[in-house]
Amino acid sequence: MRLLVTGATGLLGLNLSLLAARQGFQVTGLAHSRSLSGAPFEVRQVDLLDRDSALAAIDAARPEAIVHCAALASINAAEQQPDLAWRMNAEVPGWLAAAAKQRGLPFVQVSTDAVFNGEAGGYREEDATDPLSVYARTKLAGEQAVQAANPEAVIARTVFYGWSLSGRRSLAEFFFNQLRAGEPLKGFTDTLFCPLYVEDLAELLLKMIAHELSGVYHVAAPEHLSKYDFGVRIARRFGLDAGLIAPVRAGSLDRGAARSLNLTLDTSKLQQALGQALPGVDEGLERFHGRWEAGYPQILQGFQA
Ligand SMILES: NC(=O)c1ccc[n+]([C@@H]2O[C@H](COP(=O)([O-])OP(=O)(O)OC[C@H]3O[C@@H](n4cnc5c(N)ncnc54)[C@H](OP(=O)(O)O)[C@@H]3O)[C@@H](O)[C@H]2O)c1
Repeated sequence: MRLLVTGATGLLGLNLSLLAARQGFQVTGLAHSRSLSGAPFEVRQVDLLDRDSALAAIDAARPEAIVHCAALASINAAEQQPDLAWRMNAEVPGWLAAAAKQRGLPFVQVSTDAVFNGEAGGYREEDATDPLSVYARTKLAGEQAVQAANPEAVIARTVFYGWSLSGRRSLAEFFFNQLRAGEPLKGFTDTLFCPLYVEDLAELLLKMIAHELSGVYHVAAPEHLSKYDFGVRIARRFGLDAGLIAPVRAGSLDRGAARSLNLTLDTSKLQQALGQALPGVDEGLERFHGRWEAGYPQILQGFQA
């Protein structure tokens, strides 16, 4: 199957493109400001804000499915550039989903757990959303634009970590890099989440396409923990000093954009749809660690053009 992945230089897009290529998909990855050198899939650089050029690049790839991973995905960058965040996170998904529908292609929109305000936790897909930041508001608007343009599309609300092109993109890399350098750092005890290892997420997204799912799904680990506990588990798995992580409450800090605290997601809808359990936190960290032992971070960083 020919698969088009936007954001192919990003944390998810790169891992997904590589995994899909290994599974035998013919992948075209769209990137923007960065390129990839020596990647085992086709890479095209295009600005998704230039709709005509982007559509031409998509049509040239003749995809049979599209996974839209590109976004202004930094919460602080979105807060500082709300117009860009709106165009990238709300408008682009809408016209891309419409273009996929016109061409009869399955379309996956990658969204975020941050569409919820984090007061109650345990969120199901149909629960009321209440985004707190520019990033979260524009991602929710993107979901709505996709649903309006293409009701058959999948909207995957997720949260994930893994090894990235820069070696610095994900929360897990941050913990790992700081701990390995022996640098003290903070871990939030009151921020709860359900992190998936990025290659597990990539595998699930491909399965969701194969199962011809549509609608909103929570694609996350089936259990939650605090960001502090996540850091401690990383330290233990890599044999690093967990004592460097100071337990602090995020609620007491000013971190620019507002952040939801309890983003625990109910994943039973996806488990039922796929007929399988989703990978737990320790299982994901085991793979994250195994990939490090196998030199995967260096392989990814080697693709930097
Ligand atoms: N990371 C998380 O924990 C997390 C959690 C929940 C949801 N999400 C969502 O998951 C998706 C992937 O996130 P990520 O962390 O993998 O993102 P990322 O690492 O920040 O990568 C963003 C990607 O978007 C591309 N991009 C940005 N502006 C573009 C433009 N104008 N035209 C074309 N491409 C553009 C970037 O291309 P260049 O680098 O080449 O410029 C890059 O490939 C996003 O939708 C994000 O909102 C992420």
